[in-house]
Amino acid sequence: MIPELSNPSVLMRDPERVQEILQSMMKAGSNTIQVISDFDMTLTRFAFNGKRCPTCHNILDNSKLITEDCREKLKELLNTYYPIEIDYTRSIEEKLPLMVEWWTKAHEILVKQEIKKNLLATAVGESDAKLRDGYQLFFDHLHKHSIPLLIFSAGIGDILEEVILQAGVFHPNVKVFSNYMDFDESGVLRAFKGELIHIYNKREGAMLNTGHFEELRARHNVLLLGDSLGDLTMADGVQDMENILKIGFLNDKVDERKKSYVDSYDIVLVKDETLEVPNAILLYLTGNR
Ligand code: C5P
Ligand code: MG
Repeated sequence: MIPELSNPSVLMRDPERVQEILQSMMKAGSNTIQVISDFDMTLTRFAFNGKRCPTCHNILDNSKLITEDCREKLKELLNTYYPIEIDYTRSIEEKLPLMVEWWTKAHEILVKQEIKKNLLATAVGESDAKLRDGYQLFFDHLHKHSIPLLIFSAGIGDILEEVILQAGVFHPNVKVFSNYMDFDESGVLRAFKGELIHIYNKREGAMLNTGHFEELRARHNVLLLGDSLGDLTMADGVQDMENILKIGFLNDKVDERKKSYVDSYDIVLVKDETLEVPNAILLYLTGNR
């Protein structure tokens, strides 16, 4: 049905079930579909030419907007907490307070740096952040078919918006839930707005935005894209859901985490730096196949 599902990067727990979901969604039509996607390491690349690509936070970590001392501290935090984030031997319950600690400490450090709003665009432009190959088709096709795309990120909203803006794909069908910076009247970072979103409270984040899901309540079919097991709860706010197809990128610690990803995501993309499979699915769902 979709030849790309036979790509070597694709793993499926139950390929027949995937076909059933896809057929049901395709028959219902593109006006019943909404897409909910994580940002860092899902829409953006994990690595390029063997080198890790930055998350929203890392774009700041590596930028000229912070002092050397601050960079050291943020690197230390990354080296401490990222291994915990991807540690398959610890439960989500065990990791959750540690993730809150990571985000809280990092944001406290960033707020002390008096980062200027008008310099964010340059920091993004100079960074190594890269959307996955095929991003243009992904964003443009969703826009063309008026399919709403919710980008739901525990990263930094101001940075991620700048990434998609500079890539020319911040179309009107895109909505973002994320951590936004709070600047004072002279454009200096003073705090982060609202409730913190970290990788394990996306369900709570969704519940704070019921208005969005209310507006989209006629769209019963959801395509979910993520790279963390925490991303699986991003669609928990969707009302009257009929079908959900969950696509997960498995970027790091592949052998150790393969089983849990295949158990939780319908389609797992192993070390696949492209949006080829999601794009093939979108083309199928919109009758372009
Ligand atoms: O967009 P997404 O929800 O994936 O953003 C969260 C990612 O940001 C996490 O996977 C985490 O590794 C990364 N992060 C970071 N630096 C921080 C906090 C989170 O790189 N201080
Ligand atoms: Mg992610």
